[in-house]
Amino acid sequence: METPPLWLMRQAGRYLPEYRALRERAGSFLALCYTPELATEATLQPVHRFGVDAAILFSDILVVADALGRKVEFEEGRGPLLPPLRTAGDIAGLDVDRALGKLGPVFATVSLAAAAVPPGTALIGFAGAPWTVATYMVEGRGGTDFAAVKAMAREETPLFRELIRILTEITAAYLVAQIDHGAELLQLFDSWAGMLSGEEFTSWVIEPTREIVRGVKAARPGIPIIGFPRGAGSLYPEYAKATGVDAVSLDQAVAPGWAARAMPDDVVLQGNLDPLLLEAGGAAMDEAIDHILSAWKGRRFIFNLGHGVLPATPPAHVARLVARVRGGGAGR
Ligand code: CP3
Repeated sequence: METPPLWLMRQAGRYLPEYRALRERAGSFLALCYTPELATEATLQPVHRFGVDAAILFSDILVVADALGRKVEFEEGRGPLLPPLRTAGDIAGLDVDRALGKLGPVFATVSLAAAAVPPGTALIGFAGAPWTVATYMVEGRGGTDFAAVKAMAREETPLFRELIRILTEITAAYLVAQIDHGAELLQLFDSWAGMLSGEEFTSWVIEPTREIVRGVKAARPGIPIIGFPRGAGSLYPEYAKATGVDAVSLDQAVAPGWAARAMPDDVVLQGNLDPLLLEAGGAAMDEAIDHILSAWKGRRFIFNLGHGVLPATPPAHVARLVARVRGGGAGR
């Protein structure tokens, strides 16, 4: 059996002692993101330790909000905090013209990482999709019930549409610039896509994503794009058909067998081991890996998790996962 390519969302992060040391040196998470030499080192750490098939740019989806002038902070243990964006004045005040310029350190990281990845290892660039970045900008933090962002989308639709339009435009330009600095494929993280359904899913997840895919592909044809509308459930196939992405990353709530039947044949699947099984390791992890490998046999797919590596994950479990996928699962 052919071995699928493998990388893991959040493959660089707190579960790695060498990451914790690097973060200590940088002082803060954002300082790490904005210091190209250090961010490059973080990008390469999981490649050096595990030999995964791709490196993902070390940065965060919220650097785009920061560049637009909504100052982002990461509080230890509390996740991101930013001033809640609520009014027409807040949106008019977004620093659209200078935002890309402020992302210079991220592009410098892409260049350094592209030069440093071992041959045969792909470099993935990424951005947050407009809906997910908007949720953090409007709510002002993570861990909310999305009441404020849903209220803006429903009760002040023209205002929200303008925010999504701005994010769509800047995100497409941001991704094109990552390609120009050496990214070989791209992933769009729509971590909160699952909060929407029906027409709202179409308006705020599918349409902005389609627009970004069209823009990036028009400007730089041939760069594959992976979409991750986490939690999309029964809407995953429609997302795959309507957005034009080349690959779709599936979360762990999707049964691999269902995905094999329901997803369009020409779309590459990515996923979808439960990060908690990676944390737990052992036989349950092995079985789940084998289940994915057998369900997606005969299809083009990328082995990954259903969401990011959790901070309590023993690095040895990642090494075991890599070996098992490369070995083709049980009995190979
Ligand atoms: O290894 C990689 O995957 C590349 C780097 C990367 C990070 N964040 C580093 C990070 C990527 C691709 C992201 C994407 C990201 N950031 C998403 C989309 C994927 C997802 O997880 O749903 C989202 C929603 C964010 C926003 C964000 N960043 C949150 C909510 C948090 C806090 C939660 C946490 O785990 O701390 C972050 C912080 C963050 N981003 C860390 C890392 C390594 C931890 C920061 C630290 O060192 O303390």
